[in-house]
Amino acid sequence: DISRQPLVTVKGVPLIKYFAEALEPLESFRVRPDDLLISTYPKSGTTWVSQILDMIYQGGDLEKCRRAPIFMRVPFLEFRCPGIPSGLEVLKDMAAPRLIKTHLPLALLPQTLLDEKVKVVYVARNAKDVAVSYYHFYHMAKVHPEPGTWDEFLEKFMAGEVSYGSWYQHVQEWWELSHTHPVLYLFYEDMKENPKREIQKILEFVGRPLPEKTVDHIVQHTSFTEMKKNPMTNYTTIPTNIMDHAVSPFMRRGIAGDWKTTFTVAQNERFDADYVEKMAGYNLNFRSEL
Ligand code: PPS
Repeated sequence: DISRQPLVTVKGVPLIKYFAEALEPLESFRVRPDDLLISTYPKSGTTWVSQILDMIYQGGDLEKCRRAPIFMRVPFLEFRCPGIPSGLEVLKDMAAPRLIKTHLPLALLPQTLLDEKVKVVYVARNAKDVAVSYYHFYHMAKVHPEPGTWDEFLEKFMAGEVSYGSWYQHVQEWWELSHTHPVLYLFYEDMKENPKREIQKILEFVGRPLPEKTVDHIVQHTSFTEMKKNPMTNYTTIPTNIMDHAVSPFMRRGIAGDWKTTFTVAQNERFDADYVEKMAGYNLNFRSEL
């Protein structure tokens, strides 16, 4: 039974046990110069930007993007689960150019990705919406431990005691990296505000210009509404013992500011005070509502 196992800590980072076990085999990961890494802290817009990038790579052809579920088109580097091919295995047999998803903090990332200067699209989302989204995800994706009450989960999130560790450190270290490494650092809230503008930034970064009509088509088919009903993006092809959409759908709300329905006034004040301390010195201006 894979469900509700405690997290294990690797180099100070709490991880799902199976993903921790994937790290050693990852030492044999062979990077290719045309790989593109999609990096995020969990629940920050990974699936969204993955679908955008696959649509770009397929020249805007939605039918080609229906060839497989998103986790097969954009393999999850550190994914490992008994009985299912690991991210490493899927990547070995994949034709170039590959899109690769990871949530790993830099301390756990295969060094070769950095040495080989692999392009990275990083998406960051405001901490409050990430915490709420993650809480619901813990409930539905049973490979995580029990989340406890919302208040308990929020405390764990603030302390970095959730899977993949500290949100604060993740957004900061990848921001730092963007000064010396080819990283396109995007914000979920900017993508919500003006998806076309952000997709244009991605096109320029990956050096694949597309006609405006195609860009509009990509905007339309990567909207929350379209992705929620698309079985190739909404994770409903995953067995319910792994992800139970009846508990909470993977495509849950898809907005900026949903935290307001969940945080109490006291939780919000406590969170803000702690946030100012943890984010001091970083010129990272997150918007937590639109
Ligand atoms: S994961 O499991 O870490 O890979 O999850 P991730 O894809 O990063 O994040 C899931 C949240 O992103 C929302 N989502 C979207 N929002 C806007 N537009 C689109 N197209 C979109 N696709 C996914 C998804 O609903 C989760 O956020 P919440 O707040 O829970 O709704």
